[in-house]
Amino acid sequence: MKVLVVGGGGREHALCWKIKQSPLCTKLYCAPGNAGTREIAESVSLQPGNLGALALWALENRIDLTVVGPEAPLAEGIVDMFAEHGLRIFGPTKEAAMLESSKSFAKEVMQRAGVKTAQAEIFEEFEKAKQYVLDRGAPIVIKADGLAAGKGVAVAKTTEAALKFLEEVMLRGSFGASGSRVVVEEFIDGREASVMAIVDGLTVLPLVVSQDYKRLLDGDQGPNTGGMGAISPTPVLGDQGVENLVGEIMVPVLRELASRGINYTGFLYAGIIVDAGRNASVLEFNCRLGDPETQVILPRLESDLLAALDCAASARLSSVELRWSTRAAACVVAASRGYPGVVEDGKLITSSLTAADNCVLFHAGTIADAESPELVRSKGGRVLCVSALGDTVDDALRQIYTGIEKVQFEGMHYRRDIGL
Ligand code: GLY
Repeated sequence: MKVLVVGGGGREHALCWKIKQSPLCTKLYCAPGNAGTREIAESVSLQPGNLGALALWALENRIDLTVVGPEAPLAEGIVDMFAEHGLRIFGPTKEAAMLESSKSFAKEVMQRAGVKTAQAEIFEEFEKAKQYVLDRGAPIVIKADGLAAGKGVAVAKTTEAALKFLEEVMLRGSFGASGSRVVVEEFIDGREASVMAIVDGLTVLPLVVSQDYKRLLDGDQGPNTGGMGAISPTPVLGDQGVENLVGEIMVPVLRELASRGINYTGFLYAGIIVDAGRNASVLEFNCRLGDPETQVILPRLESDLLAALDCAASARLSSVELRWSTRAAACVVAASRGYPGVVEDGKLITSSLTAADNCVLFHAGTIADAESPELVRSKGGRVLCVSALGDTVDDALRQIYTGIEKVQFEGMHYRRDIGL
C-alpha cells in the first residue's frame, strides 16, 4: 500500500514511524515532512494547506491511503477534496471537522447530545459578552470560535484579564475571523487528560489515555504551549475510565452528528477535565491526534496502525481490535528559545543518542541544511521530542532525561518535571 502522511510535526513523524512498521506499507511519503521523517518516508514538498496540489499529486502517484495529521487541512476540506477525486483518505470531512474548527458548534452539539461539558454562552457582540463576563465574574474561560493555532483560549483568573482577552479577540481581531464569535464558559477546576479514538461512523476504537503538559515552564508555570511533554497512562484516568467516557461522550456526540447527516470518520480527541469529585467533563474536541500525545500513544501500540486506519477508511473498523503494551510511555519536548513567542530558526542540531539509550527521537520543527543535507537545523518552536517506554512512567522519564542530554542546539530548553 502506498501511503501519504500530511503534515510535518512531531505527531506526523510518530505516525510515519508507526505506519512504516506495517507490512502493508510498500512506500511511504510525507508532505512536507521534516528532517526526521525523511529518514523513513520520501518528502513531498507540498504544504498541508495546498489541498488541490496534494490531491493531484496523490492521483499522479497512485496513493492508496492518505492520513492527515494537523487540523487546518481537515477544517479546509482536504477529505472532501480527496473524495471528489476518488482518493482514499482517513480523516473527517470539513463539516465533521467543525467539532474542532468551531467551538460554538461543538458546544451546541455537546449540549444537544447531553454530554457533560462546562456551562457556556455564545456571543457575537462584544457588549453582550462583556456584560456576561461582568455578571459571572472570574475565573472564567473565553474561547475564540475558530482555529487559532492553540492560542484562542484564555483561562482568566480575574475579570480584568477576561475583558482584556475579549477585547483582543472581538475588537482588535487578533485571531481574525476566528474571533468574530466567542464561547464564554464556566471554569472547571481539575486535572486534564486526553482521550483519543479511531472512529468510523458510530464505531469507536479507543486509544490508550494520555496526559500532556501545556505550560511552558516547570511547576505548570508560564504561558500555554502546544504541549511540552506527555505521559501514558495517567493517574487522572484509568483504562476503564476511557471505556466509560467513550460511551458517555463520544458515542452520543457521533449519534448527534449522524442525526444531522454528518458521518464522522477519523481520529477524534476529547480533551477532558476530571474534578475533585472524579466527574469528567469535556473541555474541547479535536478532529486529529494530539501533539505530543501521539508520541507516547503510538510507542505503546503493538497492533498494525495502518491496517486499522485502512479498515476505518472503508467503514470496516468494527472488525479491528488493538493490542497495547502494558508498559508506560513518556516524552519531553525540546523547544527553541523564545517559544511560544518569536523564535530564531536555523540552529544546528546535534544528537549522539544511540539504540542503547532506549529513546526515540521524534523530529518536529527541523529541516535539512540547504547546503549540507546531512546536517539538521531547527525551524520552529517545538523542535524535537524524546520518547521512551519504561516499566513505569518514572522509568521512561529516567531514560528520557538521560537521553535528552545527548541532544543539543543553541537556545534549546525543556521541562524537567514532566510526569511529576
Ligand atoms: N497537545 C494538545 C493538542 O494536541 O491539542
